[in-house]
Amino acid sequence: MHDVLKTIWLLLPAYTPNNFAVLFGGGTPLDFGKKFVDGKRILGDGKTIRGFVAGVLGGVIVGHLQLLIERTFGFRIYSSLPYDRFSLLVFLLALGAMTGDALGSFVKRRFGVERGRCFPVLDQLTFLLVAYAFASLSPAFGVLFTPKILLIGIIITPVLHLGVNVIAYVLKLKEVPW
Ligand code: CTP
Ligand code: MG
Repeated sequence: MHDVLKTIWLLLPAYTPNNFAVLFGGGTPLDFGKKFVDGKRILGDGKTIRGFVAGVLGGVIVGHLQLLIERTFGFRIYSSLPYDRFSLLVFLLALGAMTGDALGSFVKRRFGVERGRCFPVLDQLTFLLVAYAFASLSPAFGVLFTPKILLIGIIITPVLHLGVNVIAYVLKLKEVPW
């Protein structure tokens, strides 16, 4: 259980960006409305520049709040890192999560899945794998993201995703349970 909680804590800067995108997104789409060679939208209207930027900033802010919480309650996970390594790591987690989110939409459009429709596994794991890939460029990645943590992340993320969305659906915050 301890490792599961630690994994969730470490992944919050990658989990939260899409929520910030939902809250603050809108306006010009990331693909500027352009179509790919298959005649379908490159990404679609669900991926906007404002949402992308808000998502990355949001994830970085969440990481800093976590640092404050660790210092307040006296546990050391992110706060065990020097600040420059911490900030690079959380930035790459958030940037990778939003890039993976957009990559997921790119793949969905190629399969003809319309904006907003679900694509199981892809919807829940692309952002995580790209967040891992981006974050692995940070020198601090291997210190905190051990193979065990990485594996737990891959296992629990789809479960958490489904759980949170079902709760949001039951509370009528979302129109579909995915
Ligand atoms: N959003 C945004 N910009 C982003 C990501 C998300 O503005 N880069 C906003 C959009 O309003 C989007 C909502 O957050 O509709 C939900 O995000 P998501 O579920 O990722 O997008 P979908 O609309 O489901 O589109 P897709 O099928 O492409 O995933
Ligand atoms: Mg969606």
